Amino acid sequence: MITPKSTAKPFFVLAPMDDVTDSVFRQIIADCAPPDLFFTEFVNVDGLQSPGRDKLLPKLQFTNIEKPIIAQIWGKTPENYRKTSAELVDMGFAGIDINMGCPDKTIVKNGCCAAFINNRDLALEVITAVKEGAAGRIPVSVKTRLGFNEVDLSWHELLLNQAVDTLTVHGRTRKEMSKVPANWETIGKIREIRDRIAPQTKIVGNGDVMTRQQGLELADAYGLDGIMIGRGIFSDPFVFAENSLWGDYSPAQKIKLYKKHVNLFFETWPNGERRIDTLKKFCKMYINGFDGAVELRTELMNARTHSEIMAVLDQTA
Ligand SMILES: Cc1cc2nc3c(=O)[nH]c(=O)nc-3n(C[C@H](O)[C@H](O)[C@H](O)COP(=O)(O)O)c2cc1C
Repeated sequence: MITPKSTAKPFFVLAPMDDVTDSVFRQIIADCAPPDLFFTEFVNVDGLQSPGRDKLLPKLQFTNIEKPIIAQIWGKTPENYRKTSAELVDMGFAGIDINMGCPDKTIVKNGCCAAFINNRDLALEVITAVKEGAAGRIPVSVKTRLGFNEVDLSWHELLLNQAVDTLTVHGRTRKEMSKVPANWETIGKIREIRDRIAPQTKIVGNGDVMTRQQGLELADAYGLDGIMIGRGIFSDPFVFAENSLWGDYSPAQKIKLYKKHVNLFFETWPNGERRIDTLKKFCKMYINGFDGAVELRTELMNARTHSEIMAVLDQTA
């Protein structure tokens, strides 16, 4: 079983977000207010088992304060899932999660992620391959959506019949992308199916949770084991805290936290392992809610190097 940091129910999870939740950002969140469980960004197993492997390895980098951490994988070929899973055990991950929910057009066209909802034979082969690679040493879980074009509970029933350790459900169909509010009633129905056919599997609900309190209420209303928060972290890096400090943060404190993030980014990725553009995604999170924030963000968007970014931030000190 995956053991989150806290045994309290529900446990809270920081969602995997590609180009966002790298080791650097996870360390920042761990210092502010850690969730009970971290995920890596999704990493492609076919890429990992190809000559392009080295380019993907930074996505699997983590430090002790990001533990426990689950590696999230995606791809097409069961054999690559199997090989990668065996390697992930040796890398020290607490579990392996298979992405069966990403709605991206190109990815789905290639038969990966949410496309598994319509290719159940391959989905089962992939789950078997990951379980064989992990060989019972670490748990295997799945993150998915409510269905492809419409809600389809036969999909969740199939997954639950595989005795996965945890099933994380993002409360939208693939077709809905992120365009409609998350449907928590249906996540509750999936939890009821779990009770009936796979009582050992944990159900984690995901979609539009902006505060810890909201997560507690949803978990209580729908009987869920865990709550996953993604975009809510952008409006509050302390979102996992019982009492968030963010509302009381002064502009100087916000800028200091961004500087910490920028410094850690350049220390961790000294050879351009991550694009600087990924760092800019965070500007709005820290440089927000105070006089002059918009102008400061515009200046930061034009800064191209560590020293240029620091020079802009230092002017404000
Ligand atoms: C920028 C971005 C990148 C994402 N990357 C991933 C990913 O790598 N793996 C995954 O399972 N979901 C990914 N997601 C989906 C989130 O994990 C989550 O399911 C979704 O954002 C809904 O949760 P939220 O409303 O709390 O953000 C991503 C979402 C965003 C916004």
